Amino acid sequence: MGKKSKIMTSLVSLMLVLVLIAGCSSKGNSTATNSTSKNEPVTITYSAGKDSTPATQKLVEAFEQKYPNIKVKVQELPNSSDDQHNSYVTALSAGDSSIDVLAMDIIWTPEFAAANWLLPLDDKFTQEMRDKFLSGPVEAVTYDGHIWAVPRFTDAGVLYYRKDIISTPPKTWEELIQMAKDNVGKGGTKYGIVFQGNQYEGLVCDALEVIGSNGGNVLEGDKVTINTPQAVGGLQYLLDLAKIAPPGVTTYQEEDARNVFQQGEAIFMRNWPYAWSLVNGDDSPIKDKVGIAPIPKGKDGQAGTPALGGWNLGINKYSKHPEEAWKFVEFVTSEEGQKITALEGGNLPTIKSLYQDKDVLAKNPYWSDLYDAFITAKPRPVTPFYPQMSDSMQINFHKALTGEITPQQAIQNIEKDLNDIIKNEGKK
Ligand code: GLC
Repeated sequence: MGKKSKIMTSLVSLMLVLVLIAGCSSKGNSTATNSTSKNEPVTITYSAGKDSTPATQKLVEAFEQKYPNIKVKVQELPNSSDDQHNSYVTALSAGDSSIDVLAMDIIWTPEFAAANWLLPLDDKFTQEMRDKFLSGPVEAVTYDGHIWAVPRFTDAGVLYYRKDIISTPPKTWEELIQMAKDNVGKGGTKYGIVFQGNQYEGLVCDALEVIGSNGGNVLEGDKVTINTPQAVGGLQYLLDLAKIAPPGVTTYQEEDARNVFQQGEAIFMRNWPYAWSLVNGDDSPIKDKVGIAPIPKGKDGQAGTPALGGWNLGINKYSKHPEEAWKFVEFVTSEEGQKITALEGGNLPTIKSLYQDKDVLAKNPYWSDLYDAFITAKPRPVTPFYPQMSDSMQINFHKALTGEITPQQAIQNIEKDLNDIIKNEGKK
Protein backbone atom coordinates (compact mmCIF):
# COMPACT_ATOMS: atom_id res chain seq x y z
CA MET A 1 0.00 0.00 0.00
CA GLY A 2 1.45 3.35 -0.95
CA LYS A 3 1.49 6.38 1.34
CA LYS A 4 -1.42 8.00 -0.49
CA SER A 5 -3.67 4.96 -0.21
CA LYS A 6 -2.74 4.53 3.47
CA ILE A 7 -3.86 8.07 4.12
CA MET A 8 -7.08 7.41 2.16
CA THR A 9 -7.77 4.22 4.18
CA SER A 10 -7.25 6.04 7.48
CA LEU A 11 -9.47 8.88 6.30
CA VAL A 12 -12.23 6.47 5.31
CA SER A 13 -11.95 4.63 8.66
CA LEU A 14 -12.03 7.94 10.50
CA MET A 15 -15.15 8.94 8.62
CA LEU A 16 -16.74 5.59 9.37
CA VAL A 17 -15.96 5.98 13.05
CA LEU A 18 -17.38 9.48 12.98
CA VAL A 19 -20.52 8.29 11.23
CA LEU A 20 -20.89 5.50 13.77
CA ILE A 21 -20.36 7.84 16.71
CA ALA A 22 -22.85 10.28 15.21
CA GLY A 23 -25.32 7.43 14.69
CA CYS A 24 -24.91 6.17 18.24
CA SER A 25 -25.11 9.55 19.80
CA SER A 26 -28.14 10.52 17.77
CA LYS A 27 -29.73 7.23 18.76
CA GLY A 28 -28.69 7.88 22.33
CA ASN A 29 -30.13 11.34 22.11
CA SER A 30 -33.40 10.22 20.72
CA THR A 31 -33.77 7.62 23.46
CA ALA A 32 -32.91 10.29 25.98
CA THR A 33 -35.47 12.66 24.46
CA ASN A 34 -38.13 10.01 24.53
CA SER A 35 -37.50 9.01 28.08
CA THR A 36 -37.38 12.65 29.17
CA SER A 37 -40.66 13.35 27.42
CA LYS A 38 -42.15 10.34 29.18
CA ASN A 39 -41.26 11.83 32.53
CA GLU A 40 -41.97 15.39 31.60
CA PRO A 41 -45.60 16.28 32.11
CA VAL A 42 -47.71 16.83 29.03
CA THR A 43 -49.86 19.94 29.19
CA ILE A 44 -53.31 19.81 27.69
CA THR A 45 -55.60 22.78 27.18
CA TYR A 46 -59.16 22.58 28.39
CA SER A 47 -61.33 25.31 26.98
CA ALA A 48 -64.58 26.21 28.75
CA GLY A 49 -66.79 29.13 29.65
CA LYS A 50 -66.09 31.04 32.83
CA ASP A 51 -67.25 29.02 35.82
CA SER A 52 -68.77 31.09 38.64
CA THR A 53 -68.46 28.08 40.97
CA PRO A 54 -65.27 26.39 42.25
CA ALA A 55 -66.10 23.18 40.32
CA THR A 56 -63.65 23.53 37.39
CA GLN A 57 -60.72 24.36 39.64
CA LYS A 58 -61.47 21.45 41.99
CA LEU A 59 -61.78 19.05 39.05
CA VAL A 60 -58.45 20.10 37.61
CA GLU A 61 -56.77 19.75 41.02
CA ALA A 62 -58.20 16.27 41.55
CA PHE A 63 -57.24 15.22 38.02
CA GLU A 64 -53.66 16.47 38.29
CA GLN A 65 -53.26 14.67 41.57
CA LYS A 66 -54.38 11.43 39.97
CA TYR A 67 -52.32 11.94 36.80
CA PRO A 68 -49.16 13.81 37.84
CA ASN A 69 -47.83 13.54 34.28
CA ILE A 70 -50.67 15.51 32.76
CA LYS A 71 -51.10 19.20 33.47
CA VAL A 72 -54.28 21.00 32.53
CA LYS A 73 -54.28 24.58 31.33
CA VAL A 74 -57.76 26.03 31.56
CA GLN A 75 -58.57 28.44 28.76
CA GLU A 76 -61.45 30.49 30.05
CA LEU A 77 -63.97 31.83 27.56
CA PRO A 78 -66.82 34.29 28.22
CA ASN A 79 -69.82 33.03 30.14
CA SER A 80 -72.33 33.11 27.29
CA SER A 81 -72.80 30.03 25.16
CA ASP A 82 -72.99 32.18 21.99
CA ASP A 83 -69.57 33.80 22.55
CA GLN A 84 -68.01 30.41 23.22
CA HIS A 85 -69.65 29.00 20.11
CA ASN A 86 -68.27 31.77 17.92
CA SER A 87 -64.77 31.39 19.24
CA TYR A 88 -64.82 27.62 18.56
CA VAL A 89 -66.19 28.08 15.07
CA THR A 90 -63.29 30.43 14.29
CA ALA A 91 -60.63 28.20 15.88
CA LEU A 92 -61.84 24.79 14.76
CA SER A 93 -62.68 25.73 11.20
CA ALA A 94 -59.06 26.93 10.89
CA GLY A 95 -57.75 23.56 12.16
CA ASP A 96 -56.39 25.15 15.37
CA SER A 97 -54.71 22.48 17.49
CA SER A 98 -54.12 24.58 20.61
CA ILE A 99 -57.31 23.34 22.29
CA ASP A 100 -57.39 19.67 23.34
CA VAL A 101 -60.66 19.32 25.25
CA LEU A 102 -63.63 21.61 24.78
CA ALA A 103 -66.77 22.06 26.85
CA MET A 104 -69.63 21.95 24.38
CA ASP A 105 -73.18 23.17 24.81
CA ILE A 106 -75.68 20.38 24.13
CA ILE A 107 -77.00 22.24 21.07
CA TRP A 108 -73.68 22.15 19.18
CA THR A 109 -73.17 18.40 18.70
CA PRO A 110 -74.83 18.04 15.28
CA GLU A 111 -73.11 21.15 13.90
CA PHE A 112 -69.60 20.30 15.18
CA ALA A 113 -69.92 16.64 14.22
CA ALA A 114 -71.16 17.45 10.71
CA ALA A 115 -68.27 19.91 10.33
CA ASN A 116 -65.85 17.12 11.28
CA TRP A 117 -64.15 19.08 14.06
CA LEU A 118 -64.25 16.39 16.75
CA LEU A 119 -62.61 13.07 17.42
CA PRO A 120 -65.24 10.30 17.35
CA LEU A 121 -65.36 8.65 20.79
CA ASP A 122 -67.35 5.48 19.99
CA ASP A 123 -64.61 3.15 21.24
CA LYS A 124 -63.71 5.22 24.27
CA PHE A 125 -67.16 6.06 25.64
CA THR A 126 -68.16 2.41 25.54
CA GLN A 127 -71.66 0.97 25.64
CA GLU A 128 -70.96 -0.28 29.14
CA MET A 129 -70.15 3.27 30.25
CA ARG A 130 -73.12 4.74 28.36
CA ASP A 131 -75.51 2.38 30.18
CA LYS A 132 -74.74 4.17 33.44
CA PHE A 133 -75.77 7.53 31.95
CA LEU A 134 -79.20 9.13 31.50
CA SER A 135 -80.41 8.37 28.00
CA GLY A 136 -81.27 11.98 26.96
CA PRO A 137 -77.75 13.36 27.36
CA VAL A 138 -76.26 10.28 25.61
CA GLU A 139 -78.63 10.84 22.69
CA ALA A 140 -77.50 14.43 22.59
CA VAL A 141 -73.84 13.46 22.03
CA THR A 142 -74.79 10.98 19.30
CA TYR A 143 -75.01 12.17 15.72
CA ASP A 144 -75.02 10.20 12.50
CA GLY A 145 -74.60 6.96 14.45
CA HIS A 146 -71.42 8.07 16.25
CA ILE A 147 -70.48 9.42 19.66
CA TRP A 148 -68.85 12.86 19.56
CA ALA A 149 -68.56 13.87 23.21
CA VAL A 150 -69.26 12.64 26.74
CA PRO A 151 -72.04 14.27 28.79
CA ARG A 152 -70.53 16.26 31.65
CA PHE A 153 -73.71 17.61 33.22
CA THR A 154 -77.30 18.10 32.23
CA ASP A 155 -79.41 21.21 32.76
CA ALA A 156 -83.09 22.05 33.01
CA GLY A 157 -84.75 25.41 33.64
CA VAL A 158 -86.14 25.82 37.17
CA LEU A 159 -88.05 28.45 39.11
CA TYR A 160 -86.32 29.85 42.20
CA TYR A 161 -88.53 31.60 44.74
CA ARG A 162 -88.15 33.31 48.07
CA LYS A 163 -89.63 30.83 50.51
CA ASP A 164 -89.54 33.45 53.29
CA ILE A 165 -92.12 35.42 51.25
CA ILE A 166 -94.05 32.79 49.26
CA SER A 167 -95.22 29.66 51.05
CA THR A 168 -96.42 27.61 48.06
CA PRO A 169 -94.79 28.19 44.67
CA PRO A 170 -97.07 29.06 41.72
CA LYS A 171 -98.25 26.35 39.33
CA THR A 172 -99.25 28.74 36.53
CA TRP A 173 -97.78 31.92 35.04
CA GLU A 174 -100.95 33.82 36.04
CA GLU A 175 -100.49 32.75 39.66
CA LEU A 176 -96.84 33.77 39.55
CA ILE A 177 -97.66 37.25 38.25
CA GLN A 178 -100.39 37.70 40.86
CA MET A 179 -98.16 36.51 43.71
CA ALA A 180 -95.40 38.85 42.57
CA LYS A 181 -97.79 41.82 42.51
CA ASP A 182 -99.23 40.98 45.92
CA ASN A 183 -95.88 40.49 47.64
CA VAL A 184 -93.35 42.81 46.03
CA GLY A 185 -91.74 45.00 48.67
CA LYS A 186 -91.72 42.24 51.29
CA GLY A 187 -88.32 41.04 52.56
CA GLY A 188 -86.55 43.91 50.81
CA THR A 189 -87.68 42.90 47.31
CA LYS A 190 -88.13 45.45 44.52
CA TYR A 191 -89.12 43.23 41.61
CA GLY A 192 -91.35 40.27 40.87
CA ILE A 193 -88.97 38.20 38.76
CA VAL A 194 -85.62 38.11 37.00
CA PHE A 195 -84.88 35.99 33.94
CA GLN A 196 -82.67 35.92 30.82
CA GLY A 197 -83.89 38.65 28.47
CA ASN A 198 -80.71 39.51 26.59
CA GLN A 199 -80.57 38.75 22.86
CA TYR A 200 -78.68 35.43 23.12
CA GLU A 201 -79.19 31.70 23.58
CA GLY A 202 -80.47 32.06 27.14
CA LEU A 203 -83.45 34.06 25.85
CA VAL A 204 -84.27 31.27 23.40
CA CYS A 205 -84.44 28.85 26.35
CA ASP A 206 -86.68 31.14 28.41
CA ALA A 207 -88.97 31.90 25.47
CA LEU A 208 -89.28 28.24 24.47
CA GLU A 209 -90.21 27.45 28.06
CA VAL A 210 -93.15 29.87 28.12
CA ILE A 211 -94.17 28.72 24.64
CA GLY A 212 -93.89 25.02 25.47
CA SER A 213 -95.63 25.43 28.80
CA ASN A 214 -98.59 26.94 26.94
CA GLY A 215 -98.84 24.00 24.53
CA GLY A 216 -96.69 25.52 21.74
CA ASN A 217 -93.91 23.86 19.80
CA VAL A 218 -91.20 24.80 17.27
CA LEU A 219 -90.65 21.85 14.99
CA GLU A 220 -92.17 18.44 14.53
CA GLY A 221 -89.65 16.46 12.52
CA ASP A 222 -88.86 18.78 9.62
CA LYS A 223 -92.16 20.61 9.86
CA VAL A 224 -92.19 24.09 11.36
CA THR A 225 -95.09 24.14 13.81
CA ILE A 226 -94.43 27.33 15.73
CA ASN A 227 -97.24 29.47 14.34
CA THR A 228 -100.07 28.60 16.74
CA PRO A 229 -102.18 30.64 19.18
CA GLN A 230 -100.54 28.63 22.00
CA ALA A 231 -97.07 29.80 20.96
CA VAL A 232 -98.21 33.41 20.60
CA GLY A 233 -99.96 33.25 23.98
CA GLY A 234 -96.87 31.64 25.49
CA LEU A 235 -94.59 34.39 24.24
CA GLN A 236 -97.04 36.95 25.62
CA TYR A 237 -96.28 35.56 29.10
CA LEU A 238 -92.65 36.57 28.68
CA LEU A 239 -93.74 40.14 27.95
CA ASP A 240 -95.98 40.05 31.03
CA LEU A 241 -93.07 38.80 33.14
CA ALA A 242 -90.91 41.66 31.83
CA LYS A 243 -93.46 44.09 33.32
CA ILE A 244 -92.72 42.78 36.82
CA ALA A 245 -88.95 42.55 36.21
CA PRO A 246 -86.23 45.21 36.46
CA PRO A 247 -86.15 47.51 33.41
CA GLY A 248 -82.71 46.12 32.49
CA VAL A 249 -84.00 42.54 32.16
CA THR A 250 -83.81 42.78 28.35
CA THR A 251 -80.00 42.77 28.76
CA TYR A 252 -79.77 40.07 31.42
CA GLN A 253 -77.91 36.79 31.07
CA GLU A 254 -77.82 34.05 33.74
CA GLU A 255 -75.32 35.75 36.01
CA ASP A 256 -77.08 39.17 35.86
CA ALA A 257 -80.30 37.52 36.96
CA ARG A 258 -78.55 35.59 39.71
CA ASN A 259 -76.80 38.67 41.07
CA VAL A 260 -80.04 40.66 41.38
CA PHE A 261 -81.86 37.71 42.94
CA GLN A 262 -78.99 36.97 45.29
CA GLN A 263 -78.97 40.59 46.46
CA GLY A 264 -82.51 39.93 47.63
CA GLU A 265 -84.19 42.21 45.07
CA ALA A 266 -86.54 39.77 43.32
CA ILE A 267 -89.14 37.28 44.53
CA PHE A 268 -88.71 34.83 41.64
CA MET A 269 -85.92 33.87 39.30
CA ARG A 270 -85.86 31.63 36.25
CA ASN A 271 -82.42 30.05 36.04
CA TRP A 272 -80.49 26.76 35.84
CA PRO A 273 -79.57 24.54 38.83
CA TYR A 274 -76.00 25.93 39.10
CA ALA A 275 -77.37 29.02 40.89
CA TRP A 276 -78.53 26.94 43.88
CA SER A 277 -75.13 26.55 45.53
CA LEU A 278 -74.33 30.22 44.94
CA VAL A 279 -77.57 31.74 46.29
CA ASN A 280 -77.08 29.53 49.35
CA GLY A 281 -73.39 30.33 49.72
CA ASP A 282 -72.10 31.73 53.02
CA ASP A 283 -71.76 35.19 51.49
CA SER A 284 -75.29 35.22 50.07
CA PRO A 285 -77.77 37.63 51.70
CA ILE A 286 -80.59 35.17 50.92
CA LYS A 287 -78.89 31.98 52.13
CA ASP A 288 -81.55 29.46 53.32
CA LYS A 289 -84.40 31.69 52.11
CA VAL A 290 -84.73 30.07 48.70
CA GLY A 291 -87.00 27.34 47.36
CA ILE A 292 -87.01 25.72 43.93
CA ALA A 293 -90.04 24.66 41.92
CA PRO A 294 -90.77 23.38 38.44
CA ILE A 295 -91.37 25.90 35.63
CA PRO A 296 -95.09 26.95 35.78
CA LYS A 297 -97.58 26.22 33.01
CA GLY A 298 -99.66 28.47 30.79
CA LYS A 299 -103.47 28.40 30.53
CA ASP A 300 -103.44 26.47 27.24
CA GLY A 301 -100.72 24.02 28.25
CA GLN A 302 -100.57 20.71 30.10
CA ALA A 303 -97.43 21.24 32.18
CA GLY A 304 -94.36 23.38 32.59
CA THR A 305 -91.74 22.45 30.00
CA PRO A 306 -88.22 23.20 31.22
CA ALA A 307 -85.67 23.70 28.48
CA LEU A 308 -83.10 20.94 28.24
CA GLY A 309 -79.58 22.29 28.54
CA GLY A 310 -76.28 20.72 29.41
CA TRP A 311 -72.59 20.58 28.66
CA ASN A 312 -70.47 17.84 27.15
CA LEU A 313 -66.76 17.30 26.70
CA GLY A 314 -65.42 16.79 23.20
CA ILE A 315 -61.86 16.32 21.92
CA ASN A 316 -60.54 18.54 19.15
CA LYS A 317 -59.81 16.41 16.09
CA TYR A 318 -56.49 18.25 15.70
CA SER A 319 -55.39 17.76 19.32
CA LYS A 320 -51.74 16.75 19.55
CA HIS A 321 -52.46 14.87 22.81
CA PRO A 322 -55.60 12.83 22.19
CA GLU A 323 -54.73 10.15 24.76
CA GLU A 324 -54.11 12.63 27.57
CA ALA A 325 -57.18 14.58 26.46
CA TRP A 326 -59.24 11.41 26.78
CA LYS A 327 -57.91 10.75 30.28
CA PHE A 328 -59.20 14.18 31.28
CA VAL A 329 -62.60 13.66 29.64
CA GLU A 330 -62.89 10.24 31.23
CA PHE A 331 -62.08 11.60 34.69
CA VAL A 332 -64.33 14.66 34.60
CA THR A 333 -67.31 12.63 33.37
CA SER A 334 -66.67 9.68 35.71
CA GLU A 335 -68.71 9.17 38.85
CA GLU A 336 -65.87 10.71 40.86
CA GLY A 337 -65.64 13.75 38.56
CA GLN A 338 -69.39 14.29 38.34
CA LYS A 339 -69.67 14.09 42.11
CA ILE A 340 -67.21 16.97 42.38
CA THR A 341 -69.28 18.90 39.81
CA ALA A 342 -72.51 18.17 41.69
CA LEU A 343 -71.09 19.18 45.08
CA GLU A 344 -69.03 22.19 44.01
CA GLY A 345 -70.99 23.40 40.99
CA GLY A 346 -74.55 22.30 41.79
CA ASN A 347 -74.88 20.92 38.24
CA LEU A 348 -77.12 17.95 37.50
CA PRO A 349 -75.18 14.70 36.95
CA THR A 350 -75.60 12.65 33.81
CA ILE A 351 -74.73 9.43 35.68
CA LYS A 352 -77.93 7.97 37.11
CA SER A 353 -76.52 6.57 40.38
CA LEU A 354 -75.48 10.02 41.58
CA TYR A 355 -79.15 10.92 42.07
CA GLN A 356 -79.09 8.42 44.94
CA ASP A 357 -75.81 9.60 46.42
CA LYS A 358 -76.26 10.82 50.01
CA ASP A 359 -73.68 13.62 49.88
CA VAL A 360 -74.99 14.90 46.57
CA LEU A 361 -78.59 14.94 47.84
CA ALA A 362 -77.61 16.59 51.11
CA LYS A 363 -76.10 19.45 49.11
CA ASN A 364 -78.92 19.58 46.54
CA PRO A 365 -82.00 18.40 48.47
CA TYR A 366 -84.49 19.51 45.81
CA TRP A 367 -83.14 17.07 43.20
CA SER A 368 -85.31 14.13 44.26
CA ASP A 369 -88.53 16.21 43.97
CA LEU A 370 -87.64 17.66 40.57
CA TYR A 371 -86.03 14.57 39.04
CA ASP A 372 -88.99 13.89 36.71
CA ALA A 373 -88.97 17.47 35.45
CA PHE A 374 -85.23 17.21 34.80
CA ILE A 375 -85.33 14.06 32.76
CA THR A 376 -88.32 15.12 30.69
CA ALA A 377 -86.90 18.58 29.88
CA LYS A 378 -87.61 19.64 26.31
CA PRO A 379 -84.73 19.71 23.79
CA ARG A 380 -84.27 22.61 21.43
CA PRO A 381 -84.36 21.63 17.73
CA VAL A 382 -81.66 19.03 17.07
CA THR A 383 -80.07 19.87 13.72
CA PRO A 384 -76.72 21.05 12.32
CA PHE A 385 -78.57 24.24 11.30
CA TYR A 386 -79.51 25.08 14.86
CA PRO A 387 -77.24 28.18 14.98
CA GLN A 388 -79.19 29.80 12.10
CA MET A 389 -82.51 28.89 13.70
CA SER A 390 -81.38 30.24 17.03
CA ASP A 391 -80.30 33.51 15.40
CA SER A 392 -83.80 34.09 14.08
CA MET A 393 -85.36 33.20 17.44
CA GLN A 394 -82.94 35.41 19.36
CA ILE A 395 -83.66 38.42 17.16
CA ASN A 396 -87.42 38.02 17.02
CA PHE A 397 -88.00 37.05 20.65
CA HIS A 398 -85.90 40.03 21.69
CA LYS A 399 -87.78 42.43 19.41
CA ALA A 400 -91.04 41.21 20.92
CA LEU A 401 -89.68 41.59 24.44
CA THR A 402 -88.57 45.18 23.79
CA GLY A 403 -91.92 46.03 22.17
CA GLU A 404 -90.55 46.57 18.66
CA ILE A 405 -92.89 43.94 17.21
CA THR A 406 -95.86 41.99 18.58
CA PRO A 407 -95.56 38.37 19.74
CA GLN A 408 -97.69 37.40 16.71
CA GLN A 409 -95.22 39.11 14.33
CA ALA A 410 -92.26 37.52 16.09
CA ILE A 411 -93.75 34.05 15.70
CA GLN A 412 -94.59 34.67 12.02
CA ASN A 413 -91.04 35.89 11.29
CA ILE A 414 -89.54 32.85 12.98
CA GLU A 415 -91.87 30.54 11.07
CA LYS A 416 -90.74 32.05 7.77
CA ASP A 417 -87.03 32.01 8.67
CA LEU A 418 -87.12 28.41 9.87
CA ASN A 419 -88.91 27.29 6.72
CA ASP A 420 -86.29 29.10 4.61
CA ILE A 421 -83.42 27.55 6.58
CA ILE A 422 -84.84 24.03 6.16
CA LYS A 423 -85.51 24.61 2.45
CA ASN A 424 -82.06 26.06 1.70
CA GLU A 425 -80.11 23.60 3.76
CA GLY A 426 -82.03 20.71 2.24
CA LYS A 427 -80.73 21.79 -1.19
CA LYS A 428 -77.06 21.64 -0.19
C1 GLC B 1 -77.07 26.80 30.07
C2 GLC B 1 -77.47 25.51 29.38
C3 GLC B 1 -77.15 25.58 27.91
C4 GLC B 1 -77.84 26.79 27.32
C5 GLC B 1 -77.36 28.05 28.01
C6 GLC B 1 -78.11 29.28 27.50
O1 GLC B 1 -75.69 26.91 30.11
O2 GLC B 1 -76.83 24.41 29.95
O3 GLC B 1 -77.58 24.41 27.26
O4 GLC B 1 -77.64 26.88 25.92
O5 GLC B 1 -77.59 27.93 29.39
O6 GLC B 1 -77.65 30.44 28.07
